[in-house]
Amino acid sequence: MLLALLLMALAASAAEPPPADDRKPLHLTPRMAAHQKANMRHHLEAVQSLVTALSAEDYDKVASAARSMGAAPDTLRMCRHMGEGNPLDFTERAVAFHESADRIAAAAESHDRGRVLTALSDTLAACTGCHAIYRQEVLLDHP
Ligand code: HEC
Repeated sequence: MLLALLLMALAASAAEPPPADDRKPLHLTPRMAAHQKANMRHHLEAVQSLVTALSAEDYDKVASAARSMGAAPDTLRMCRHMGEGNPLDFTERAVAFHESADRIAAAAESHDRGRVLTALSDTLAACTGCHAIYRQEVLLDHP
């Protein structure tokens, strides 16, 4: 009996469509999409090394990990390129994210652990804020 109920529940869940992803599409060519994802993986690795360095109170390493996500001119140029043909708010969010990473680096330079954590929290909010709104949608031609 229990087995029958379990099988029925499984069959019912298999028939349900996957939950819709109703985030806004971010239109990118296959190359740009792959490039963006590689950057994203780099960001996550940077956060990991930043937290490891912070736990060891190695503020130089915290600062360099943060700067690798910072608002360098080339990075901002790339963000604007990714954002072309997409809602302006994507590029604004991307720029604000990179600038927030520079504030982590500035906090690290003052060796203030509390300030570093507050700045890191702001940066992580920029990550999750953008992920909550945008998903990649790969197009063959850039809009
Ligand atoms: C301005 C927008 C934006 C910001 C800021 C942002 N991301 Fe993303 N990220 C995206 C988009 C868009 C995707 C693709 C998501 C999808 O299609 O489901 C993505 C995907 C990812 C992925 C998946 C990569 C893969 O290989 O599939 C990781 C990991 C990730 N982001 C980490 C981060 C981290 C960590 C931060 C902050 C330190 C961050 N992102 C900040 C927009 C952003």
